[in-house]
Parts: sequence; C-alpha cells; structure tokens
Amino acid sequence: MTPQKNTTLGEFIIENQSEFRYSSGELSRLINSIRLAAKVVNHEVNKAGLVDILGDAGDTNVQGEDQQKLDVYANNAFIKTLTNREIVCGIASEEEDDFITIKGRNEKNDNKYVVLIDPLDGSSNIDVNVSVGTIFSIYRRVTPEGTPVTIDDFLQPGNKQVAAGYIIYGTSTMIVYTTGHGVNGFTLNPAIGTYYLSHPNMRFPENGTIYSVNEGNYVHFPQGVKDYIKYCQSEEEDRPYTSRYIGSLVSDFHRNMIKGGIYIYPNTAKDPNGKLRLLYECNPMAFIAEQAGGKASNGFERILDIQPTELHQRTPFICGSLNMVQKAEAFMQKHKRS
Ligand code: AHG
Ligand code: MN
Ligand code: MN
Repeated sequence: MTPQKNTTLGEFIIENQSEFRYSSGELSRLINSIRLAAKVVNHEVNKAGLVDILGDAGDTNVQGEDQQKLDVYANNAFIKTLTNREIVCGIASEEEDDFITIKGRNEKNDNKYVVLIDPLDGSSNIDVNVSVGTIFSIYRRVTPEGTPVTIDDFLQPGNKQVAAGYIIYGTSTMIVYTTGHGVNGFTLNPAIGTYYLSHPNMRFPENGTIYSVNEGNYVHFPQGVKDYIKYCQSEEEDRPYTSRYIGSLVSDFHRNMIKGGIYIYPNTAKDPNGKLRLLYECNPMAFIAEQAGGKASNGFERILDIQPTELHQRTPFICGSLNMVQKAEAFMQKHKRS
C-alpha cells in the first residue's frame, strides 16, 4: 500500500502494524513512546539558545568525551519515557556505562524488546545552532522472557534489528524510521505537535555527488580513503563531486539520502577503529541505508554482519549511495586492511 502523504505518524503506525514480523502492538507502542520522547527533546533543543542549558554538564561519559547538558537531558528523557511506559526490557545508551534492566509490569521482565540509543548526536553543534539528532535501534531479546536481560540481548549483529530510526532537530523536526519495509520520514508540525508523513518511501539515489568526511584528519586516513577522496577531487572526466560535512552524522546522512552522497568516518592511526559506535550509530544508520537502497560497510565487510563484542564498540563507517560506497570499497580493498 502506498502511504498517503497527509497520514499522521500515529495513523501510519497503526496501519502498518501487521507488517511487523512478530506482529505485536508492542513494537507500535515502543515507536510511539520514542515519538513522544522526541517531542520532549525537540522542545528542549529548540530553546537551547534561550535558557541556561548550553555548555558542559561537567561530566565525561564512559568514552571520555565531554557531556553537554542536552546530552544528559536527552538521555534522561528517552530512558524515562521508555521506562515509564513499561514496553522494553532493557536500554543501552551511548551516555551510560552499562545497559539498564527494566523490569516491566509487576516486576516480571516479560517485555520483548531492547532499545539502543544515541540520545543526542552531533552534540558539538548545539552551541552554534546547527542541526543535531537522536538515533535509535530496536532488537527482540534473545534471552527468555521473564528473566532479566543480559549483555547478549544487546550484542546482536545489526542484521537482527527489527526497527531503527533517527530524529533530526533541523529547520524542521523529522522522524525517519524503518521496520524492514522501506524507510519513511515524518515532519513535525510544531503548532499542533503532530508528525505527518512528508517523505514516503525514501530512497538513496544510486549515484550521488556529495562526499562527507572530516578532511582535517586527511593525513591520518588509510591510503584507500585518501585515494577515494583524490578520485572525487580529480579533474579527469569533469568529476561532479562536492564536499559537505556538518559533523553530525544524522544531518549528514539525511542530506545524503535525499540528495545522493557518501559519508565516511575512517579509522586512523590514532583511532584504529574510527570514532563512531557500532551499536548506537552505525547499525541503525546501516539498516536505514540498506532499506533505502544504499549501502554501509567498514570498507571490507557489511556493517550489519559485524558480530559486536562490546557495548561501546567503534567501527570505521562508509555509508550512502550504492555506487559511491562500492567505489570507495574498491579503493580501500586495493590496500591491506590497516
Ligand atoms: P556524538 O555527538 O553522539 O558524540 O556524535 C558525534 C559524531 C557524529 O555525529 C559526527 O559525524 C562525528 O562524531 C563528527 O566527528 P568529528 O568532529 O571528528 O568529525
Ligand atoms: Mn553520535
Ligand atoms: Mn551522542
């Protein structure tokens, strides 16, 4: 069924509930509560310039990065909403050292889904009024219902995701998500607090002209990535490429999916696994990319097939339009994996 453009997110969730493999209202309720938390965070992000909420919270997270106040706020808002609604059995967050166990109704541990989140992505952009986002990823637990969750419920390869999405707090606020049946984007009408389907069946153009990479790190990149960038910049055959880098994965990805492009965050000598987190950032974006006809890899393997071994694991990330990612992989595979 082709979704109608004026459908609200609430209507869309109900209409498409039967598509879920395990066909339960629970996943719908879960996406509904993410929608709610996103509204709360959106409200806070939009007033960030007005109130004393900018700047450091004075803490560092488990990965040694400064936490911004809005990181903390968004983390709490998502955890609180998901916990209160008793629909997940566990949450792992980029901002938490360990996963959180949620007991659910009557302390029974009988909920089926775990959620992994990057509550605020692109946080260095908050102070300068540039788009930030939230990324989420949902799995069905692998341990028996009725028992507390374990690390195994979170360390699943991305190909086991049942849903994933992001919220972009941009010039408009949007939720873009997939449950494995294509990708749809919904824009918030802030006047009435309702998300409307604005981008049905989103698709990465097979070819694109945009490459997004932090070229300030160029000298530290693997040779294959350097070669790919030089290929994009070459005057031969009037190559049409242009560079765009916001420094917020959600925003760079969103633009590239609409216009056609590639996002690259490679490993460097200093960061041998790159910067981005497999579970909170790369897997959900890779699921969305593939569902939109794009591709995501670490240069050598499909992101979604990587078996995670730790919660805060990082990976090099190349993601975007199919032909561009394939070209970048070809350059990388000419060299030994570093
Ligand atoms: P986060 O704000 O969740 O820590 O993520 C920031 C990530 C990603 O969104 C962005 O693309 C990348 O870090 C930018 O890193 P550089 O500043 O090193 O380019
Ligand atoms: Mn992030
Ligand atoms: Mn973050």
